[in-house]
Amino acid sequence: MGYNYKYNEKCKGCDIMKRIGMLTSGGDCQALNAAMRGVVKGLSKNLEALEVYGFYEGYKGLIYGNYRLLTSGDFSGILTKGGTILGTSRQPFKMMRVPDEKGLDKVEAMKQTYYKLRLDCLVILGGNGTQKTANLLREEGLNIIHLPKTIDNDIFGTDVTFGFQSAINIATDAIDCIHTTAASHNRVFIVEVMGHKVGWLTLYAGMAGGADIILLPEIPYDINKIVEAIEGRNRSGKGFTILAVAEGAISKEDAKLSKKKLKEKQEKSSYPSVSYEVAARIQEKTGSEVRVTVPGHTQRGGSPCPYDRVLCTRLGAAAADLILNDKYGYMVGMIDGNTKKVPLGDVAGKLKMVEPDSKIIREAKLIGISFGD
Ligand code: F6P
Repeated sequence: MGYNYKYNEKCKGCDIMKRIGMLTSGGDCQALNAAMRGVVKGLSKNLEALEVYGFYEGYKGLIYGNYRLLTSGDFSGILTKGGTILGTSRQPFKMMRVPDEKGLDKVEAMKQTYYKLRLDCLVILGGNGTQKTANLLREEGLNIIHLPKTIDNDIFGTDVTFGFQSAINIATDAIDCIHTTAASHNRVFIVEVMGHKVGWLTLYAGMAGGADIILLPEIPYDINKIVEAIEGRNRSGKGFTILAVAEGAISKEDAKLSKKKLKEKQEKSSYPSVSYEVAARIQEKTGSEVRVTVPGHTQRGGSPCPYDRVLCTRLGAAAADLILNDKYGYMVGMIDGNTKKVPLGDVAGKLKMVEPDSKIIREAKLIGISFGD
């Protein structure tokens, strides 16, 4: 690159109040635009006093200097718009210190873009992997604010992430629709819900949709317990059973395997996903007809629900408040109904998982939901 700024020189004599960079990274979700709008609206009613640079496709835009100066028009009418106006991509954290195919040092390149644009800070919207890179950039001396996005709700240090509630609504709708057809046919239905490592989305959608069995990555299942639950329902005259199964649900046997052995087993598996394997095993043991429904990426699509719009507006405004007070190096979380600044270094790299012995699981079990354990 043809520039090498060592520090963040301020623009002399100009009346720009703040220069902000923004990017959305990792899987998208419904309320990214609402959050960006919240930040910008919170920063200034007069966008002319602000320079907001939007980096395209997440960290890729920051690495390769692919950005655009955004105008007030960009933030108008986007509260209800799903996806992200900046585009996104997955740039794994573990690859950040690995030079690209042309030998480019990605971390150095991101710093150079930041200094070249004389940014006051970078607002980074994303999930766990994104947060780890955000923290790395903080350690490298950049001013960072992180906003917790993911339908998985697995970010440590915040009670809730944006995208979660919108995704619950979609996954619950899928289970609701399955209910009537399951009852008409006396079948077993599996609805596979997103979440490879954690089961918050499956737990909430499963409970909201009245699923009879919920399988989560955090609670390894025993196929015989699943069969027992189905047969119990049949005996009580309920001819159908609905399972909400997380993408990352795992059997007790598989949970004992090393990571390497599990990966080998999954690569060799002829099933497209865990739900199909569970379906085959139920069919084999009970003789029942089993059908699998995978709502997949519909769970990240469409307009954000009202809850997420409010959440993002508040998180965005709280981020703006930090920026106006030159407080950097934080994630803005929502804790006990209040926005809170959480030091990035305290939370990056940690996952918020469902506790198998938590109250919510115990209450779900009390009303008869089986977790297959
Ligand atoms: O992290 C969000 C998420 O939607 C997970 O629930 C899911 O497992 C994963 O992303 C899917 O990723 P991709 O969009 O890359 O297929």
